[in-house]
Amino acid sequence: MVLETSKLLSSDPYTENYRPQFHFTPESNWMNDPNGMVYYEGEYHLFYQYHPYSTVWGPMHWGHAVSTDLIHWEHLPIALYPDENGAIFSGSAVVDWDDSSGFFNGGTGLVAIFTSADGPKQTQSIAYSTDKGRTWIKYEGNPVLSDENYPDFRDPKVFWHEDTKKWVMILAVGNHVRIYLSDDLKTWNFASEFGREAGSHDGVWECPDLFALPIGETGAKKWVMIVSIGNDDAYLEGSRTQYFIGEFDGNTFINDNTTETVLWIDYGRDNYAGVTWSDTPDEKRKFIGWMSNWKYANITPTKGWRSAMTLPRELSLISTPEGVRIIQAPVKEINSLRKEKREWKDQVIGADSENLLSDFRGKAIEIIAEFELHSAAEFGFLVRTSSEEKTIIGYDATKQEIFIDRQHSGESSFHPSFACRHSASVKPAGNRIPLRLFLDWSSVEVFANHGKSVMTDIIFPSSTSEGLALFTTGGDVTLVSLEMYHLKSIWK
Ligand code: FRU
Repeated sequence: MVLETSKLLSSDPYTENYRPQFHFTPESNWMNDPNGMVYYEGEYHLFYQYHPYSTVWGPMHWGHAVSTDLIHWEHLPIALYPDENGAIFSGSAVVDWDDSSGFFNGGTGLVAIFTSADGPKQTQSIAYSTDKGRTWIKYEGNPVLSDENYPDFRDPKVFWHEDTKKWVMILAVGNHVRIYLSDDLKTWNFASEFGREAGSHDGVWECPDLFALPIGETGAKKWVMIVSIGNDDAYLEGSRTQYFIGEFDGNTFINDNTTETVLWIDYGRDNYAGVTWSDTPDEKRKFIGWMSNWKYANITPTKGWRSAMTLPRELSLISTPEGVRIIQAPVKEINSLRKEKREWKDQVIGADSENLLSDFRGKAIEIIAEFELHSAAEFGFLVRTSSEEKTIIGYDATKQEIFIDRQHSGESSFHPSFACRHSASVKPAGNRIPLRLFLDWSSVEVFANHGKSVMTDIIFPSSTSEGLALFTTGGDVTLVSLEMYHLKSIWK
């Protein structure tokens, strides 16, 4: 009996050293981009780029999971397998409420729109499901969109544009995006293009998204275009995700900013290919990204599985002196994972202070802190510490930047640019820096200034590096408030 139990435990896929406890990962093998994100009949669907036969990228399938709260996931069988048109690259899914496709006999159902990748040839195909995404039928007229002028021609994101009563597809095409329109999801006509000159071109454009959001409570709205840019060895940062703010009339996107303006979704290294759910019941824009970077995604030191998603995040817009910007917060359902609360208030922290957190150790933790600037040049948290390892999440008061330093975070020898320190500009609000942090077994996510600047990084510490501490250099800082929680696993 004893033998059987230990066998069972060692085969539990969610106990390996680096396995995230509250982030989505496939049970086994390789995952990259989130795909086909749609809410339908009480379930959030998460499909994903999946290679079921190994832990490195290979012929792509769509893996599948569903959730009722975006936090706890149920794994389902593979949804889409490669076919005569090629492997199944990234794409989206919509609810066809009025049966515009004719697939649903006057009822409703789900339609997935994805890239078929056949060697160097990329075309767009569709499939439909009449059983809440459990099984899919590929359309016999696939592919539905091709253009041999463009070798990079992929990652369709489709949405319904109510004012013009059309389906809109935004597609990544090398160094720009193209917009196509349809009445029935089967026939697509070119409408416009955007971006050859705009934003960052540090890599090939991939995985676009386009949606409207209200600007705070002003009653005004803006359109947001998300565009990921692939890894180019010339840039240390690797693959990243940018966004544009502007107007969209159902045909053409007009950028509000100059062509030189570059806006990043995340200033960490590991948030790529993120897009948003369609048809959400509460009209909120919910985003999830792939928590890795093409620079080293295939060689991270995990066993049996590879890559996690970021926390699902709600996106909103705010007006700032520089213009309209995205702010992000983890979806509120994450609060359901909190265990007992620990709290501290009004503590002056200096170089010689005792470690307030000496009895708070762990690997799956939420931290909510507010600091008031004083004389310290740098301050913040050391997490996942041991005598050999630490990850630093700090604020540099001189440069007015938050930073993550993963130079001594643990295993990093797999890629020369993994061990690094990087930062994001954060201006104090009333001389204060509010931070919300999430640590999972192999990641840190930092939401600074209520989500105005966000950083997401993966790390690979030893499982025994469980220490936490506050730190300062060059003076004192006031810890106005601190709340900490251990977080429950979503898998048990
Ligand atoms: C982005 C990406 C997409 C493509 C997919 C292939 O990470 O390169 O452009 O569809 O991954 O897996």
